[in-house]
Amino acid sequence: MKILITGGTGYIGSHTAIELINQGHDVTIVDNLINSKKTVLEQITKLTGTKPKFYHVDLTNRTATNQIFQENHFDLVIHFAGLKAVAESVEKPLLYYRNNITGTINLLEAMQANQVNNFIFSSSATVYGNPGTPKYTENLPTGQNISSPYGKTKYMIEEIMKDAAASNPNFCAIALRYFNPIGNHPSGLLGENPNGIPNNLMPIITKVYRGQISKLSVYGHDYPTPDGTCRRDYIHVVDLAKGHLAAISVLKPGFEAYNLGTGQPASVLEIIHAFEKISDQPLPHKFAPRRPGDLPEFWADPTKAIKELNWHAKLTIDDAIRDTLTFINQS
Ligand code: NAD
Ligand code: UD1
Repeated sequence: MKILITGGTGYIGSHTAIELINQGHDVTIVDNLINSKKTVLEQITKLTGTKPKFYHVDLTNRTATNQIFQENHFDLVIHFAGLKAVAESVEKPLLYYRNNITGTINLLEAMQANQVNNFIFSSSATVYGNPGTPKYTENLPTGQNISSPYGKTKYMIEEIMKDAAASNPNFCAIALRYFNPIGNHPSGLLGENPNGIPNNLMPIITKVYRGQISKLSVYGHDYPTPDGTCRRDYIHVVDLAKGHLAAISVLKPGFEAYNLGTGQPASVLEIIHAFEKISDQPLPHKFAPRRPGDLPEFWADPTKAIKELNWHAKLTIDDAIRDTLTFINQS
């Protein structure tokens, strides 16, 4: 298949590009490099033997986005491009709505104008808001009590996809709702390397390990969970990438959503202890107040993906930590 990956030099997009190219797909990447580096293309080339065609384009630029579709015929678009920092989205909501929503509309319009009808979107567990149960199944309501503009853009884009599918009988749309991606390619050549200060747990842990941050703050240890710290469903990014390949085979007219998670929650303290065991050194940490907006615990019910996509997460948290350490020690 000829596939356009938006945000393909980013963390999840680059890992997915590798899996797709290794399965024989013809991959083109578009990215504005706001949160990734062009050198990622060289790493993809090293790992696959193929250099993907690359467009340095911002999807909010409608003309430039259209131009990509005029120059190529794609069978499928996998849409990763977006801003994703939750706290920043609270401070700069309009930036998030413009980037994530306008960018997606430009993309969908260019697809429609060029009869490209297959679309897979990077959604998030955040679309469930606060549903009152920690085990998330796809049939729970979405869109209620979402705490950030970032999360709302994910919900809104899913609604746009549903309406686009309702208006075009040929439009095949899948939202993949990611839980908490961690780890990187086992070669250590590719990893999570955000420009700026990270917000998520594992990138912060790696900064503490490297001595760039003195201590990890554990946000809250009085939650109603087994050890008092929050629990999440951490999924290895290579498993997540493979979930996209599995989704391609079930594309059909209409809208579908799938949870991509392991189904097993782990606490912040469990992650710290696993990191200490595998790195064989203590990870300095302290307890800090709860972070506003955090839920005590949630995890995926991955049954739908297991049954319909014939996919399940195979790698463990220990694998992810080992691969993270390989990446850190090489970079
Ligand atoms: P990332 O920041 O590493 O990758 C996103 C890429 O999109 C970056 O390379 C960035 O430069 C690019 N981009 C942003 N806005 C763009 C625009 N207007 N035009 C062109 N390129 C643009 O993030 P990631 O972790 O790889 O996430 C990929 C997708 O998955 C995002 O949509 C994110 O919201 C979603 N997601 C991520 C997580 C996570 O924890 N990493 C969880 C759930 C969902
Ligand atoms: C966050 C976002 C969510 C987004 C997801 C993936 C919030 C409220 N939610 O989820 O919308 O989809 O990232 O991008 O921001 N933790 C610490 N110390 C730290 C950092 C994190 O204790 O320095 C804890 C958090 O309290 C949480 C867990 O680690 O319990 C995971 O945090 P994080 O990686 O930010 O992911 P989520 O909060 O699950």
